[in-house]
Amino acid sequence: MIDQEISKNIRELKEFLGDEVVILAHHYQRDEVYIHGDFTGDSLKLAQLAISQSNAKYIIFCGVHFMAETAAILSGGRQKVILPNLEAGCPMADKAPINEVLESFSHLKDYFRDKKIVPITYINSTADVKAFVGKENGYVCTSSNADKVLEKALERGDIVFFLPDQHLGRNTSYKMGISLNEMAMWDRKKGLIFSGEKDRLKVILWGGHCWVHQMFQPTHVIHFRKMDNPYKIIVHPECSFEVFKMADYYGSTEKIIKTVEEAESGTFWAIGTEKNLVMRLARNNPDKNIEILSNFNTVCRTMSKIRDVDLLNVLKGLKEDVVYNEIVVSEEVRKYSKIALQNMFLV
Ligand code: 13P
Ligand code: SF4
Repeated sequence: MIDQEISKNIRELKEFLGDEVVILAHHYQRDEVYIHGDFTGDSLKLAQLAISQSNAKYIIFCGVHFMAETAAILSGGRQKVILPNLEAGCPMADKAPINEVLESFSHLKDYFRDKKIVPITYINSTADVKAFVGKENGYVCTSSNADKVLEKALERGDIVFFLPDQHLGRNTSYKMGISLNEMAMWDRKKGLIFSGEKDRLKVILWGGHCWVHQMFQPTHVIHFRKMDNPYKIIVHPECSFEVFKMADYYGSTEKIIKTVEEAESGTFWAIGTEKNLVMRLARNNPDKNIEILSNFNTVCRTMSKIRDVDLLNVLKGLKEDVVYNEIVVSEEVRKYSKIALQNMFLV
């Protein structure tokens, strides 16, 4: 339920602050926050928007920490980037701490002495990890360009070290024709885990995952396949390999929305991604039959930490010239993480 009083106060403050402030909102945000977004999008679109908002003094990023951090890197310090609630993190990004990443990369370089390893980090990672990747002249990728980035990286090197999301890495590589035998998992304690030959390895996957997308199981796909109505299954590539293989379509949050919105009236859709997005899509498209692939525990709890009242509070602060919850990135980290982001934009 949207609190009309809070919503009215947010609108009034936005009007008062005018062009000084731009609000970017990710598709997983609660409706009470999402409705105030000047722009909405997936991670790639929001990163591009962050660069283009050169008139705004403040970017209020209604997403999770790594998204606001990426905006802070790309805005080059000209703008202040604000995350309305600092508890809105991404557990997947936190699963790749920089010290573990550096240690692992050094082991891998020793093990594959005669090969060139190019690191790719999913945008769902810390700025420190992006900076490490930039120093190695590697790439950031998002769920909408992971295939193009992987292709480019494999042109430039022999092996890709893909982190932190094993599922995006595995699913994308598989779609590109790389077999499971040509992929390995990296485990800090056990080392490399693979069943193929060392000389044939093309992709090494960090062991991270998104717990929200692991809630979708093959049984859920089977459930919809058994229905009388012809459900199409569309999933986010953070889903497990089994679910991904069974789906009809896949894509980033923006692509999922576009695919379903552009589908014919009367079509049936079961969607494997975060619940706030799916429920909104169902409400906005009453001419289609839209269901979530599984209703169990599929809200991104960290993204949902941002409430309308948090947005209101940071706007109130700006009215008084006080910047709450600014996301700051050191110059050193900005310099190198920007290389990895720019390498992605150039692909
Ligand atoms: P998108 O870039 O597809 O919006 O994905 C972000 C994310 O965190 C998905 O869990
Ligand atoms: Fe992170 Fe998963 Fe939430 Fe996306 S849905 S922000 S990957 S926890």
